[in-house]
This record gives sequence, structure tokens and C-alpha cells, in this order.
Amino acid sequence: MSEAVEYERVGDIAVLAANNPPVNALGVDVRRGLLAGIERAEEEGAKAVLIYGQGRTYFAGADIREFGKPPQDPWLPELCARIEASPLLVVSAIHGTALGGGLEVALSTHYRIALPSAQVGLPEVHLGILPGAGGTQRLPRVTGVEAALDLITSGRHVRADEALKLGIIDKVEEGDPREVGLAYVAELLDSGAARRPVSEMAAPAPVDFDAVYEQVLKKGRGQISPATAVRAVQAACEAESFDAGMRRERELFMELMASDQREGLIHAFFAERAVGKLPELKGVEPRVLHTVGVIGGGTMGAGIATAALLAGLPVVLLEMSQEATQAAKARIGNNLSGAVKRGKLTQAQYDEMVGTALTLATEYYELSGVDMVIEAVYEDMEVKKKVFAQLDAACKPGAVLASNTSYLDINEIALVTSRPADVIGLHFFSPAHVMRLLEVVVPDSTAADVVATGLSLGKRMRKVTVRAGVCDGFIGNRILSTYRTCADHMILDGASPYQIDTALTDFGFAMGPFAVADLAGLDIGWAVRKRRRAEGLDPRARDASYADKLCEQGHYGQKTGKGYYIYEAGSRVGVPNPEVMALIEAERAEQEITPRDFTDAEIVRRYMAAMVNEAAKVVGEGVARRPLDVDMTLLYGYGFPRYRGGPLKWADMQGLPGLLVDIETWAEEDAYFWQPAPLLKQLVAEGRTFDDLNKDAA
Ligand code: 3HC
Repeated sequence: MSEAVEYERVGDIAVLAANNPPVNALGVDVRRGLLAGIERAEEEGAKAVLIYGQGRTYFAGADIREFGKPPQDPWLPELCARIEASPLLVVSAIHGTALGGGLEVALSTHYRIALPSAQVGLPEVHLGILPGAGGTQRLPRVTGVEAALDLITSGRHVRADEALKLGIIDKVEEGDPREVGLAYVAELLDSGAARRPVSEMAAPAPVDFDAVYEQVLKKGRGQISPATAVRAVQAACEAESFDAGMRRERELFMELMASDQREGLIHAFFAERAVGKLPELKGVEPRVLHTVGVIGGGTMGAGIATAALLAGLPVVLLEMSQEATQAAKARIGNNLSGAVKRGKLTQAQYDEMVGTALTLATEYYELSGVDMVIEAVYEDMEVKKKVFAQLDAACKPGAVLASNTSYLDINEIALVTSRPADVIGLHFFSPAHVMRLLEVVVPDSTAADVVATGLSLGKRMRKVTVRAGVCDGFIGNRILSTYRTCADHMILDGASPYQIDTALTDFGFAMGPFAVADLAGLDIGWAVRKRRRAEGLDPRARDASYADKLCEQGHYGQKTGKGYYIYEAGSRVGVPNPEVMALIEAERAEQEITPRDFTDAEIVRRYMAAMVNEAAKVVGEGVARRPLDVDMTLLYGYGFPRYRGGPLKWADMQGLPGLLVDIETWAEEDAYFWQPAPLLKQLVAEGRTFDDLNKDAA
């Protein structure tokens, strides 16, 4: 008997207990153990079989680590068919999460009981595949097509009470899964309950599948797995038999399994779990974190305070005056009331957060008790230095002193304090209580346990937390600045902002770079350009001033109603601003550039190559520890399409040699901008990929 599934007899009942921590994934040992357990129960003459999971959960799905490797017997669909066909009464007791293959095993057992805290779902589409062990055939027979389509195309988790209503589970009972399961099996045996194979149920009634397919395809913004899953559910209604439906499901499953999207999404799944685990911090304990101070109550400071309150951390918020503290409190209240409206927060929790957990302050000494301070004041080195000198005087020893700067040199900030080892950067993205990304920026002298504290704060706030080194823009904004510059060059050479935005949203970005600039405020880029010009641009760098002219006229994007696009009052979607093309044409004439046509494919290729090249520099210089850190930064902070895995995963899939050839070709026109990253050249020379570097670091 396999150790991954333990076998036990309790009277007439054979109990199969999965033991494959942490999530009882259905790897080959578990599949073999279940098969052997069913066979043994039948041979021994048991009357029923109970299947449950030891530890924290029932089966959380197929073992994703096996994907892409040669399959080993028994396959999950065959195992499910064998479980269902057993002449014994087979019952599942579910706790934790029955997801994907886990729910498919449960659906092939004849009855299902669950603890109230259990959740079930078929999240395969998020991995770029579809349920491949009968989920698309059995679930619609149990719930009807509409509910099955909802669950399968959204991949959402369903709580036990809803699963009970939908008929996915038969009973909900509090207790221990083994005990609850045994009692239920005994009850079923006593009442003479019959086996109930879902595959023998009638095919469900169809819906207008073509319409649903189109709708789901559109919603997927380029991701194909949800729409493909619709076709598999269609087969549950239309195939001539259950087995024919299963064959169709397998065909579509294998198609998706072979896709780049599957590879990208699975990379994203593992990368988002690896990103917060830094090999250098193994064994390093974070500092105690019970309370947080926030300096500045503007949009950013209020957002950070909101995120801290939502993470259960009391906040002391410091502003310059009573009025400013009240305005900050109103902003925080407004942020939190959004959560109440969405049902994420109860009124009582809201009252506790705003009424008790939030303290308003106007003097630095009031921060003397907090464990961490996050400064979110105006982005100016002198202002920040003054704040840190005061924090140094006011805060208790061991408090973490964090700056929310988005590009300033934190080494310089740390040096104004007597405790640079306690200073760190925490770069939140606006709105800070909504955006999932947090860059933990580590200056030279920061103590390891302070870095660990930054990561643990991110975890408490449920953010994807990426470690970054100090440089202009850290990981995300530095790479953004380069690919934005590439887009600006293409505009000078003949592309329009609107063609670029469309080409990139077609590629899968949530928004194009010019729509993003309008959203963020054109004054931000303007300030950066002015700063860089003041610092002295390299004479080889191409520069353009047409966007400055928009700002000079007071057009800052969405907030003023006009930027690259014009926005009707209250609308977040704009139409192209005709004045922009005139400004661009004037600039081209001034720079004596004859515009040329760009294809959408060339736009994407150049934009992505610029992104990848800068990302390779960021990794090569150690600003990002691993390629996956860049991938997660772009995915969670910059709208990069998840189904492409991230820019460096995308680059691996495209082939690094071809990208390098393109970069070297474009360097013949503009050798300054297109300087190939040494790391990219090295990987190409060694025939390796970025993902090889991820594996080296694991
Ligand atoms: N296969 C392999 N490893 C898995 C896994 C799986 N299905 N699910 C989770 N893990 C691993 C994680 O990588 C992580 O490993 P690490 O500790 O080395 O980083 C560990 O288990 C714990 O996972 P989490 O950190 O995510 O733990 P949480 O408690 O936060 O979440 C969970 C638990 C909700 C189960 C979450 O892990 C999850 O959503 N897992 C994926 C579920 C899923 O997508 N199932 C479908 C798989 S595809 C399938 O079944 C195909 C079938 O139709 C044929």
C-alpha cells in the first residue's frame, strides 16, 4: 500500500486517508494509493469506502508539478472512472479545499459530505487548462449547465453552503472529516442508499453555447482556457454518450496543455508563491509588528493606512495639522466604506477600524510606540531627509523606518539617521489598499530581519511582495521608463499613441501605455523628464517635448479631462485627443524625421524587447534577485497579461537568441537605446533561459 494513502478498516467501511502534505495534491503516489485502496476494499468484501484527506485539506487538485512531464498510470480520469464504477458505496468527506482534480475525484464518488468551512471549485482555467478528469462532464449533470459554466469559466471557489444548494455536496456537518465521514457512511448503509454514479445521470439541458463561448472569449481578453472550457461543457449536453463527452474533454484538455498560455499561467502560479521566499532570509525571523505609523494622509498615505487597518494592524497617522488629519481620516473612511459596500467588511469592523484602531497625530513623539513607520510624504529628497531625522529622534530602538519613495536613493535617506540598518523602502502602488504589488527596497546597510519584516508586512496585507535593490525606479518603474521610452521613439518615427495602445491591449495588457499615462497623470512623467534633463541627458539619448506641451496647457490626463485622450465628465474611457497628433507632427518636423508605418507586430516586438532587455539588466545588476521577481512585478503592478507569465517567461518562450538578434539589429539605428543587456548575451551564448536562473536560485 502506498504511503501517500493510508488504508484502514472500520467494520464494513474501508477508509482511504490521503497523506500527501501540504495540500494532498493528486500526484502519482496518491493516484496509485487510491486505486490500490479501492481494489483492496473490494477484495476484502467491504461494503463501503470513505475517502478523505489528512492534514489541512481534501485533495487540492492534480499535482501541477507533473504537468509537462510524461504521464504515469493511473491517469486521473481513469482513476475517477474506476472509483465511480466500484460496486461498493464510495463516499467523500471534504474539508479544506476540494479543487480541480480534487473535486473531480469527489464527483466520481457516490455521495459527498463536507465541513462548513470547506470550499470546492474547478479553478483549472486559471492554470490555462480545463478540468480534465470529468469535471466538465460530471458537474453539469449535477448542477445543470448554467451553474457549471459559471464555476468552470470563472474558476471561483464555492463555499460549502452554496455547494450544498447547488447539489455538489449532499450534506454539511461540523466536526472532524474522518468522524463526520464515517457517521455519514454508516447512515447511508443503514438506510440502504444505492450507489449513485454521476456518469449514469441524464445529459443536462443545453444552452446557447455559441453565445456563451463568444461572451466568455471576450471577457478573457486573449486568454483562451475559459472559452475552450465552454466547448467541453457543450459536449456534456451534445455528445452521444458520457464516454464520448469524456473523449472531447480530453481532446480539448490536451490542446490547452500544449499551449504557451498554460506554461505562462503555471509559471505565474509557482512564481507568485516563490516571490516572497528569499533564500537569503531562510531562518531569519521578522521583527515584532503590532502597530504601524504612517506619515502623510494624502492618497498614498491614506491608502497605506487603509491596507494596514485591513490587515488588522492599528495605525497612528501623522499629518501636519488637525485639519489634515481629519481629511486623512475621511479618505481612509471612504476607502473602507468601499469594502463595506462590497461585503468584504462588516459595519462593526469598519467602526472598529476607523474608531479604535486609527489614531490621528500631529507630533512626531506620538510615533514613539510604533513598531514600524511608513513615510508617504512629498517625493523630494530634502523633505524626506527631514522626516527621517525626526523619526530617528522620536522612534523607539528597533522600530523599522520605511520610506514609500518610488525612485529616490534610500541609501542617502538612511544615512541621515543614526540607525541605517533599520531603514528600508516600501514602495506601494496607488491605490495602496487595492493594488497587489509591494516592492521592498533594500538599501546597502539594511539588517536582514528588517527585510524579513517588510516581507511579512506584505504577506499580512496579502500583497505580492518583491524584493528590489536601490536604483532609479527600482524594478518596476525602471523597466517601465525604458519601455515607455521605446514607445516614445516609435511615435517620433511614425506610430501613433492610439495604434500603440491598441497593439498592446490586443497583446493582452490591461491598458496601453498612453491610456495608463492619462490615468496616472501626465504631470508625473513631465516631472521625471524635467528632473532628468536638469541632471543632464546623455547627448546620444533621443528626447521629445510634445508631451510637455500638453502639460504646459494644463492637460494632465483623466484628472483634467484631457490628455492623450479626451474624457467626457465622469468617464474613464476616452476618445483620441486630435490635438495630440498635431503636436507629434510638429515635433517630427522639427526633428526632421520622415514618419514611417509600423505594423502592430513590430510595435509589440520592439516594446517587449525593450522591456526584456531592461529587465535583464535589472536581474544582471542584482536589483531583482531572480527573473521571476521581475515577472511578478510586471504582472501585479503594470497590467502585464498573466497568461503570458511575465516578460522574462515570455522572452524564454519566444526564444532569447531571436530577441538578441532584433536588439542588435535595432542598435544599428540607435546604439545608445538598444544596448544589449550583458545577461541576455550571456544566456544566449550559454544556450540557457531566464527560467534556468529561477531554478538555480530555488
Ligand atoms: N499541485 C502541486 N503543488 C501544489 C498544488 C497542486 N495542485 N496546490 C498547491 N501546491 C503547493 C504550492 O505550490 C505550495 O508549495 P510551496 O510551499 O513549496 O510554495 C504549497 O502547496 C502550499 O500552497 P499555498 O501556499 O498556495 O497554500 P494556501 O493555503 O495559500 O492555498 C490552495 C492552498 C488554495 C490549495 C492553493 O494552493 C491553490 O489554489 N492550489 C491550486 C489548486 C488548483 O489549481 N487545483 C487544480 C489543479 S489542476 C487539475 O486538477 C487538473 C485536473 O482537472 C486534471
